[in-house]
Amino acid sequence: MSELRLEDLNAANIVAANSLTLRPGQEQFVTPTSYAIADAAVNPATTWPRVVVDDGRVVGFVRANFDAENPQEEFRCCIWRINVAADAQGSGVGRFVVAAVADEARRRGFDQLTVLWEPGEEGPEAFFLRVGFTVIGETQYGESIGAIAL
Ligand SMILES: CC(C)(COP(=O)(O)OP(=O)(O)OC[C@H]1O[C@@H](n2cnc3c(N)ncnc32)[C@H](O)[C@@H]1OP(=O)(O)O)[C@@H](O)C(=O)NCCC(=O)NCCS
Repeated sequence: MSELRLEDLNAANIVAANSLTLRPGQEQFVTPTSYAIADAAVNPATTWPRVVVDDGRVVGFVRANFDAENPQEEFRCCIWRINVAADAQGSGVGRFVVAAVADEARRRGFDQLTVLWEPGEEGPEAFFLRVGFTVIGETQYGESIGAIAL
């Protein structure tokens, strides 16, 4: 794999970022219910959207949320969305993204990074556990709350 890097979301990469394909069965896991409901209330100033580029090609998208004042602890420093292109999955892009978000969170002074996921066969649970998240709770919609100490 060549050099992966993050780019700000911009006019040149937004179409590619929005067109990322998933593997069959993954679509239902992309936006856990809690994120879908909270989306309307999120302050755009606290979101951190980044595109993952590999050799000039967009291979992923991540959106974090950094909002120390959020009343919900699981939304203060979290991965709101992570999505790797179907044909780029399994080659370390997701691991790179989590490490990059963790670095940014540390830089901002947070001591914990969280993520929510819906349990299920085709879902991302095995990935999140593999890259270091541990389950610290469950939301009212049955999603797992994962956390990494930074
Ligand atoms: C979840 C997702 C982001 C993982 O990205 P990825 O680039 O395929 O992950 P990586 O290749 O970096 O994998 C990192 C590690 O997790 C493991 N892993 C990844 N997916 C796995 C799976 N489904 N089952 C078991 N292990 C898995 C890899 O084997 C790898 O382990 P290693 O580094 O020890 O070899 C990607 O599958 C995806 O975009 N899924 C659809 C969207 C989604 O569900 N997002 C989460 C919403 S909450």
